[in-house]
Amino acid sequence: MTRPAAAMALLAELTHRCPLQCPYCSNPLELERAAAELDTATWCRVFSEAAEMGVLQVHFSGGEPTARKDLRELVRHAADVGLYSNLITSAVLLDRDRIAALAAAGLNHVQISIQDSEAPGADRIGGYAGGHDKKLAVARLVREAGLPLTLNAVVHRQNLQNLEAMIALAVELDARRLEVAHVQYYGWALANRASMLPTRDQLEQATKVVQAARERLKGILTIDYVVPDYYAHKPKACMGGWGRQFLNVSPSGKVLPCHAAESIKDLRFDSVTERPLRDIWENSEAFRRFRGTDWMPEPCRSCDQRELDWGGCRCQALALAGNAALTDPACGLSPHHADLLALAERESASPPPAFRYRRIGATAAV
Ligand code: SF4
Ligand code: FES
Repeated sequence: MTRPAAAMALLAELTHRCPLQCPYCSNPLELERAAAELDTATWCRVFSEAAEMGVLQVHFSGGEPTARKDLRELVRHAADVGLYSNLITSAVLLDRDRIAALAAAGLNHVQISIQDSEAPGADRIGGYAGGHDKKLAVARLVREAGLPLTLNAVVHRQNLQNLEAMIALAVELDARRLEVAHVQYYGWALANRASMLPTRDQLEQATKVVQAARERLKGILTIDYVVPDYYAHKPKACMGGWGRQFLNVSPSGKVLPCHAAESIKDLRFDSVTERPLRDIWENSEAFRRFRGTDWMPEPCRSCDQRELDWGGCRCQALALAGNAALTDPACGLSPHHADLLALAERESASPPPAFRYRRIGATAAV
């Protein structure tokens, strides 16, 4: 077998702890506890191994990565080994001193999530009183520290009416980039799909708003747009193809091809505590299972798109068609596609149920 090319980026899920409780979180329902988290030295070794195998970027993520007290050391080590670093954060645990320390340690970029355009809606969705105003204050401090800022607006049927205002907020905060991301339904978000999935009309309206803003804000703000798969005809090339560009390391050290891979129960995931990162990337069963095209069933196997979208998303195929080894139902050629559209129409037209907030230990209580 030929050796796979090196991964481009490592998503380091430093912790599953998080002060927010967003119902759209893509973390698994069974969150890993603090006692299981990798220590500082192990994370640093992982970053060294990643750089040696050709990885270019590290995204510090979670949960909330700033809940780790050693974040500055981790950032410094990533910089020392030549990795470009991005902090994906809710921002509510940051202040001026900590931002300055992270910048001095070599952090390259900050990405802050917002839940809505105004505090009442945003704090309700995030389950954190005072969170929205704190985020805006921290976003300004990030820019004052000279760090580039991306704002990440996760949109769904309970905040899409404020999309214009979220775009205006990104301009006001001097963000270089805005990611308007419709919720992707994995982990907690899948459990909350009925309260978040937009109607087709809402989706079309949002798409028009984004297209107009892209025109209007050329040279001022770049807007990335992630649409919900449920109304798509072509699937996304999830993760750029399984085991082709990205790897995730969970808080306890499990190496995953994507953030939701643990939903595929018949896969076994190796840990950085037991095997070198490169060996896991190249040879582990979990990465080899859906890498390339050999695993594909029809209609993917004979489709001319198979090396462009890589059959879509394995986790979505499992969630919606019951089998991770099938064509993603987001594809119009999937035999499950019509069922998916019917489900989207039905759920989005029903009154939204109450949110199921993301909390460590909440699974059993709901
Ligand atoms: Fe992609 Fe498979 Fe659909 Fe072809 S059949 S477009 S390869 S998901
Ligand atoms: Fe797992 Fe798409 S989220 S392959």
